Formats: sequence, C-alpha cells, structure tokens
Amino acid sequence: MERRQMLTITAAVGLHALWARPNEGHAQGQYAASEQRGAAFEQAKLPYGLGDLAPFLSEEQMSYHYGKHHAAYFKKLNELVLGKPEAQWRLEEIIAKSDGPLFNNAAQTWNHTFFWNCMAPNGGGKADGKLGNAIERCFGDYGTFETQFKTEAAKLFGSGWLWLAADAQGSLTLLPLANAGNPITHGKTPILTIDVWEHAYYVDYRNNRAQFIEEFMKRINWPFVQQCYENTEPA
Ligand SMILES: [Fe+2]
Repeated sequence: MERRQMLTITAAVGLHALWARPNEGHAQGQYAASEQRGAAFEQAKLPYGLGDLAPFLSEEQMSYHYGKHHAAYFKKLNELVLGKPEAQWRLEEIIAKSDGPLFNNAAQTWNHTFFWNCMAPNGGGKADGKLGNAIERCFGDYGTFETQFKTEAAKLFGSGWLWLAADAQGSLTLLPLANAGNPITHGKTPILTIDVWEHAYYVDYRNNRAQFIEEFMKRINWPFVQQCYENTEPA
C-alpha cells in the first residue's frame, strides 16, 4: 500500500487521537495513565465505563475483553516492536506492511479500539445522513443491510471480525475477515465492526453468538459510524 493511500485511510477514519502515542494527546485526557507508560503503544481508555453497556455486555465481560484480551495485545505488540523501527510507526502502517505475530497484535489493538467506539450505552436506532443514503444505495434499504450484517456475523467461521467497509468511491460492502483481519489491508476504510471472537461474548452469552449480534445492533454508536463514513469524502 502506498503511503498516501494509508494516510488517506487514517484520515478517513479520523481517529488519530485514539491511536496516538503515550506522549500525544494527554492534554485531552483521553489516555490511560497505565502500566504501559513509556511503551510505544498505549491502550486508550474506553469511551464509557466498564459496566455502562450492561445488560448488553456486563462489567465482567468487558473487564475480560478490555482489561485482559485487549491489554494483552498491546503488551505483546510493545514487546515485538521494542528496539525496532516499527516502534515509531503508526499502527495503520504496521497493519499495512507486516504479517505474522506483528500484524496480528497490531491489528488486534486497532480493531478493538475501533470496536469500543462502535458501541455506546445509548446506542441503537439506524444509520442516518450520508451513511444512511449510502446503505440504501448499496444494500437496498436499512432492513436488508441489518439482516445481511447479522447473517454474515453469525456465519463467520471461527474467530474474526465482520466489517462494514467503504471503497474510494464511497461504496459499502460487508467484509467478513478471519482472526485479526482489517479492511486497511484490502484497500478499504473501516466504517463499522463487530468482534465475533468467542472472548467477545462468552461470559454473557456463552455460545449464543446470534443473540450477542442481535443485542449489538441495538447498541451501535451511529454518530461515530456515520462520522467514519463522512470522513472518507475528499476534502
Ligand atoms: Fe476481542
């Protein structure tokens, strides 16, 4: 991927602040003072409290997912880049240019931070504005999009992420990606995602992924998702 394209994607997502380095952005109070202080990459604070998504996701579920799984990807990523040039790269650059454990851990840190922002305690409803129009253009209507999203998320085999992603023309597609997959490596911009790894829902839903997906649809943070889509438009 060319650097220009990568920068476009990063700008399109419009979330530099979420993945900034420990010494960037602290003035805005967005970053955890954490055990990773001084590390190359630092886990951002959740945009809500650990228990604020309950009963959709319990505090126990989020404590494991955010506090154990997501944190572990940061810890491993920082170990992998220690003393290497990649320690100075942006996460998107590592995702685009690496493979193996480095890709897996970089993408998993990015994917989860994006996923947290795709949900909100008072989320739900449906897409509006330009994104709503694009969904109607690409899927027919919102109901069809919702049905396809739920179906694709439910049938994704094993661990992975279902993405709604936009191409350079603003067309939307559903992208089921295994393991740590991210639309950036497919030349597309992430718009919305759901984590369907079992660790995302097992505490609250056991093996009932379909119910987790159903409840997720009622907590989507559409203002954030719409902003991601609107940021894909050329300035
Ligand atoms: Fe996860």
